[in-house]
Amino acid sequence: MNSTTLKRQAGEYAAGFVESGMTVGLGSGSTAIFATRRIAQRIHSGALTDIVAIPSSLATEAAAKELGIPLTTLAEHPRIDITIDGADEVDPDFNLIKGGGGAHLREKIVAQASERLVIAVDDSKLVDQLGTSWAVPVEVIPFGWESQAAYLQSLGANPMLRIDGGAPFSTDQGNLILDADFGPIADAAALDQTLKSRAGIVEHGLFIGMTRDVVAAGLDGIQHLRR
Ligand code: 5RP
Repeated sequence: MNSTTLKRQAGEYAAGFVESGMTVGLGSGSTAIFATRRIAQRIHSGALTDIVAIPSSLATEAAAKELGIPLTTLAEHPRIDITIDGADEVDPDFNLIKGGGGAHLREKIVAQASERLVIAVDDSKLVDQLGTSWAVPVEVIPFGWESQAAYLQSLGANPMLRIDGGAPFSTDQGNLILDADFGPIADAAALDQTLKSRAGIVEHGLFIGMTRDVVAAGLDGIQHLRR
């Protein structure tokens, strides 16, 4: 079974938590899209009624429109009942690294507005310590980005400007991403605060204490982990 199959299993399983009448946050990435597609199927089959959704990226918004999912905004629905999203790493306390797709700013806004954030992953994403196999994506404004790269270096990271198709990757907000490889992170909550306090850093991919629900698909089946 390849990782796409596992992502599909986890995403579709998590979509089963959505109930009629809910406002739903739609995550971004190759796992979350399976949840989004399954939610659309359930709407079109009549199994789910009275659903409105808030996408966490322009790519997810385009997919949701194509799938015919009714969309809303945080202005109209400031409280989201459930959001289903993916992650790049999940630690034993369910702290996360996200932002592999560069959508972590909107994803964090949507997650913070959510009563329940369900993270769907293939079980290769479960790690003992954040930073083990993934860098922390740091969204920076283009002005003076080099000084944020130097700052990340001063914190012990090896930051790389994210490149896409030969040019700097541009986020949905028109910002840049520095992928900051810290190696295994001893205190992710402290790093979260340190990164937040730096001007020029718009947001970073550490999601601390934001989820109590992880759906992990592996060769032995699907686990619904709760804290
Ligand atoms: C995008 C994200 C994704 O949820 C994360 O990168 C996981 O992606 P995938 O499901 O494609 O492995 O945070 O910004």
